[in-house]
Amino acid sequence: MILVTTPGKVGAEAARLLAGRGEAVRILARHPEKVMALKQAGVDVVEGDLDIPATIDAAMKGVTSVVLVSPAVPSHELHVVGSAVRAGVDHVVKVTSKASADSPIARQRGQAEIEAGLLASGLNYTLLRNNFYMQNFLVLGPAIARTSGFGSAAGAGKAGFIDTRDVAAVAAEVAGSPSAHSGRSYLLTGPELLSYADVAEVLSKVLGRQIAFSPRTRAEDTQAMVSAGVPEPIAAMNAHAVSLIAEGDAAWLSDDVPTVLGRPARTFEQFATDHAGVFS
Ligand SMILES: NC(=O)c1ccc[n+]([C@@H]2O[C@H](COP(=O)([O-])OP(=O)(O)OC[C@H]3O[C@@H](n4cnc5c(N)ncnc54)[C@H](OP(=O)(O)O)[C@@H]3O)[C@@H](O)[C@H]2O)c1
Repeated sequence: MILVTTPGKVGAEAARLLAGRGEAVRILARHPEKVMALKQAGVDVVEGDLDIPATIDAAMKGVTSVVLVSPAVPSHELHVVGSAVRAGVDHVVKVTSKASADSPIARQRGQAEIEAGLLASGLNYTLLRNNFYMQNFLVLGPAIARTSGFGSAAGAGKAGFIDTRDVAAVAAEVAGSPSAHSGRSYLLTGPELLSYADVAEVLSKVLGRQIAFSPRTRAEDTQAMVSAGVPEPIAAMNAHAVSLIAEGDAAWLSDDVPTVLGRPARTFEQFATDHAGVFS
């Protein structure tokens, strides 16, 4: 049995892919009623909360591999690691990012803390170090639909944006055949480096109308996110992370998606085409 810890963008797709391959797969969800489609696809949906260790222990029964993906609150994911050790789990596939203990971004320091706990646990593991998600642009969808423009603090910096469906496909592949990937760290990116102006150009082509990108300061970006309803500390952290793109922090690419999957990673144009309705 493979346990996927939460049904977000990566987790839901990974569980769906695993069920489609005939694997026994379970997903821990705070709100099972929101993931009825996964149940219909053959996924064992169990109610649980990563803040309540007993619910994780209940979900861990009979599990051999875990896909560890969540908003990456260290105490939550370390509960999962501890539960996996107690249950005799063989392998954990950890969804992470460019984590480091001295990062200026709290989320990256938290990821580093979780990775250290996982490595110290003695469990077999694979780390999926992902670049920025293409799906982050979906949040801007309504604003792009309304104004045909968007801004950010990324300046002219470039990122190797990856489609979360490809992250999920790699997570499913590794969880299904973990021994081939044990102890490895994969750098997951799309096939090209794009600036936000490049993204605007791709959206213009796909949507058939001009989409404009306006550079913003970090403070302006924080304010825009707060105005869109993001809590201030999260908005400040996200704007800081995006502003680091301007300094080259996300300008990295790798071949790990095609190497693991045997097919190319999705392009931003494919992503935009598949989600055109969100931006229209
Ligand atoms: N965004 C990026 O550009 C980026 C880049 C690299 C790496 N990452 C990493 O990707 C991971 C996030 O993956 P994602 O984008 O697929 O996640 P996501 O779509 O944000 O989904 C998060 C899921 O976690 C659930 N959840 C939250 N708190 C929970 C709790 N206490 N107990 C149980 N479930 C809980 C949410 O469920 P509810 O519906 O109940 O809220 C939701 O299903 C993080 O580790 C992040 O650092 C992100």
